[in-house]
Amino acid sequence: MKIIAEGAEAKIYKNKNTIIKDRIKKDYRLPVIDVLLRKSRTRSEAKLIREAERAGVNVPAVLEQNDKTYKLHIEFLDGEKVRDILDKNWKLGEQIGEQVFKLHSRKIVHGDLTTSNMLLHNNKIYLIDFGLGEISDRVENMAVDIHLFKECLISKHHSIWEKVWKSFLKTYTNDKVLKHLKKVEARGRYKKLD
Ligand SMILES: Nc1ncnc2c1ncn2[C@@H]1O[C@H](COP(=O)(O)OP(=O)(O)OP(=O)(O)O)[C@@H](O)[C@H]1O
Ligand SMILES: [Mg+2]
Repeated sequence: MKIIAEGAEAKIYKNKNTIIKDRIKKDYRLPVIDVLLRKSRTRSEAKLIREAERAGVNVPAVLEQNDKTYKLHIEFLDGEKVRDILDKNWKLGEQIGEQVFKLHSRKIVHGDLTTSNMLLHNNKIYLIDFGLGEISDRVENMAVDIHLFKECLISKHHSIWEKVWKSFLKTYTNDKVLKHLKKVEARGRYKKLD
């Protein structure tokens, strides 16, 4: 088994066509709390991926979810991280908008909508990493999702961010959320003045 990524929360292993996401123990947490958190996040991520799949969003298949070891087994998607290829493929914004629109239509908030959590597999955009997601019908939470995505474009894809954003808006047409985004952005600007 090969380790392919190590984040703040989890280690990612690859074994044949399976990705194993193993939530790591945090020594600063009380052991009882640590166990509960890892269990609930693993379970919640599996649930959200399945829910997204039902909504017709491109996501990896959940193969197994083990409550005892906090490991999530998901389908390995052979492809590239959008972070690495977007600058040469800004038209992908349209496909990203389509996926996120479907997600929000089903009241699924991703929670970490960056280009590191999107993969291009068989020329299609797939969303991954639902570890911080939730089911919520609050326009606020969806607007924060979009805000994070836009901030990611500005900071990580600076030379083409406006093109991607325009192309994203062709398919992400949730007007309520986009209207609320303005408020979230205004709040962000206000914070920076402190
Ligand atoms: N199904 C998959 N197929 C291919 N590669 C994957 C898959 N899932 C994850 N990866 C790779 O592993 C990396 C980390 O995965 P992921 O984003 O789920 O974990 P993380 O960011 O550490 O999690 P968290 O934000 O919950 O701490 C991804 O950026 C991607 O490169
Ligand atoms: Mg991630």
